Amino acid sequence: MIKILIVDDEEIQRKMLKSSLELKNYEVFVASSGEQGLEAFVKEKPEVIICDISMPGMDGMEMLEKVKLMNAEAQVIMLTGHGDMESAIASLKKGAFDYIIKPFNLEELCMNINRAAENQRLYLQLKIQQTQLLRAAKLTAMGELGAGVAHEMNQPLMAISSYLEGLLMNDALVTNLVLKNKMLKIKDQFVRLGTIVKRMHEYSGSRMGTFTEGDVKRPITDGLFLLTQQFKDHNIAVELQLQEDLPEVYIDRYQIQDVVVNFLINARDAIDEKFNQQEGGHIWFISKKLKNFPAIVSGVIDNGIAVKSGSEENLFEPFFTTKAPGKGTGLGLSVSFTIIKSHKGVIGFSSLKNERKIFYFVLPLDKEQDLAGVEALNKELKAELENL
Ligand SMILES: Nc1ncnc2c1ncn2[C@@H]1O[C@H](COP(=O)(O)OP(=O)(O)OP(=O)(O)O)[C@@H](O)[C@H]1O
Ligand SMILES: [Mg+2]
Repeated sequence: MIKILIVDDEEIQRKMLKSSLELKNYEVFVASSGEQGLEAFVKEKPEVIICDISMPGMDGMEMLEKVKLMNAEAQVIMLTGHGDMESAIASLKKGAFDYIIKPFNLEELCMNINRAAENQRLYLQLKIQQTQLLRAAKLTAMGELGAGVAHEMNQPLMAISSYLEGLLMNDALVTNLVLKNKMLKIKDQFVRLGTIVKRMHEYSGSRMGTFTEGDVKRPITDGLFLLTQQFKDHNIAVELQLQEDLPEVYIDRYQIQDVVVNFLINARDAIDEKFNQQEGGHIWFISKKLKNFPAIVSGVIDNGIAVKSGSEENLFEPFFTTKAPGKGTGLGLSVSFTIIKSHKGVIGFSSLKNERKIFYFVLPLDKEQDLAGVEALNKELKAELENL
């Protein structure tokens, strides 16, 4: 139902318009002045505003300007009398969607409203697409840079590590315990650096995938197996809900296993932050074929702390982390993003009922079909996630 806000100082006009538009199945809010109109605009977030040009106090033109300042995509249709063509045209220059001359025909107004609402929808869609494109471009640039840096860093890193290793093994040389301890700390940090470099390398996609037809359950159970002991130690219950007769998909199972492990480690961290390794933490791993779309969705659900509000947009970006310094590199999800993209799949996250959330990836059954941006999949996925 399209939401409309009518701003008009004349009561009869306002009421008539409201009831006739309601009969046409619009959701209608009213305001009797520019000031009230602005308040209602902020509160009700209408898709289309119908605004009388001449009103006492803040008139239609001023309100139009203010609305456009707050939200450049707002769709405003101006109502004007015969004698006021000049303002009507000026309003278009100020960004009004259109103007209608009184007395007007209701059908004509409705057509205008529908076009304005469609316009608004397209704007929003465009904005989402732009953000996605920008993100993809950013990720690609990061990937290229990462590949170069990772490559260059690998040699000196290996050299330093092996010198250090050599020294540490020579007990006759390193006799001072304090020194030895510090050297061990340095070694730890080098191992960490090595992991970062390895991940940057993976992230850049420079590791060629080896794709074969296979069961997605394999990398899932393999990934889980690696963490079984940890989950026990951290008092985290794990429940598998993997559909039995899943069709095969075209995957690099080691890469998919990486995604699984990244998701699981993140879930572990979120749970630890909430339950402090005491009982109560729960992870569910699901994998199932979508009912009305040829794809398999797999994901990790956890009941740990919520995704930090405001960070939703950045989760999949390289080096984005909310974890303590030294704890997360912020590469887990961006590596996963790249892996799933190379599988022509989609990756995402969604909040669920009962303070849970899911991080999921979707893989196509048809290896030629790229799932990115497929509208039918989004709908199906939404329905599926709502039921979890
Ligand atoms: N299951 C989850 N629950 C809550 N927040 C999460 C979850 N998974 C990821 N996040 C958020 O997304 C951020 C990025 O995750 P990502 O895996 O990319 O990096 P990280 O875990 O911080 O570091 P690492 O490179 O070691 O994986 C995390 O810091 C966290 O804020
Ligand atoms: Mg992580």
